[in-house]
Amino acid sequence: MGTLLNGFELAKKRRTELKDKVDEQLNKGNRAPSLTVVLVGDNPASQSYVKSKKKQAEEVGFTSEILILDKDASELEVLDTVTRLNNDKNVDGILVQLPLPKHINEDTIILAISPEKDVDGLHPLNVGLVTLNKGGTKPCTPKGIMTILNEYDIELEGKNALVIGRSRLVGQPIASLLLHKNATVTIAHSRTKNLEQLIAEHDIIVVAVGIPDFVKASSILPHHVLIDVGINRVDGKIVGDAEHESYEKAAYATPVPKGVGPMTVVSLLENTFETYLRRIEREEI
Ligand code: GUN
Repeated sequence: MGTLLNGFELAKKRRTELKDKVDEQLNKGNRAPSLTVVLVGDNPASQSYVKSKKKQAEEVGFTSEILILDKDASELEVLDTVTRLNNDKNVDGILVQLPLPKHINEDTIILAISPEKDVDGLHPLNVGLVTLNKGGTKPCTPKGIMTILNEYDIELEGKNALVIGRSRLVGQPIASLLLHKNATVTIAHSRTKNLEQLIAEHDIIVVAVGIPDFVKASSILPHHVLIDVGINRVDGKIVGDAEHESYEKAAYATPVPKGVGPMTVVSLLENTFETYLRRIEREEI
């Protein structure tokens, strides 16, 4: 029986620490940090994610707003909204919830967000800095994964890490972050052959493909560290990308729910707070 990495409790602890830091700034006479989330359309999963982001932001003492644009809003309307937020002194962090409706080019919108206010770490400038290990804002889910691995003192140096999935939100950035900690990283994806064998040859398995039960419990070995990033709704229940029985077979595993998910949101809040502090330093607030 392995150890479950409790993202739910760790996120709670980090929110408490963050709230103390926010209170410290308020006591100095500074205004609260502020996060604006832009939601285009009415995707039910996205609606629930953005509500949770706003609620948790308010719990740590931020001000937070959700701007909802119609699902038929034009690319220009979304760009105008982003530009307005870039220029708004009272906004520290901007997050445009993905996915966007198909008629809107995600790259165009992400490129328009001021890199300084890009608390999602998706702007190409931040992607470049993070990839080069030269600073930059880290994307929220990979940052949350690294926080949880660090909290449980999981050794990364010299370990073989297999990242299954190559998305901009998770697969590509987590591969960079693991590499910077001196893991030997392999990225697998939908065209990869012999996945079972690759899993057996690696120590750390990060799965982020969005397919329920994609990693079979039978392929998990007692030395594995299993990071399950999946959030899939099956018969009204949230399940991960790995079979539920895999968690107890691994040495360490993040379960779904209560593993990586809560760490993503607290990382967003931490990114927003860091942006806010930088803006105070630069006297932009
Ligand atoms: N959709 C699912 N996860 C995320 C995220 O971390 N950021 C954004 N912008 N959209 C998402």
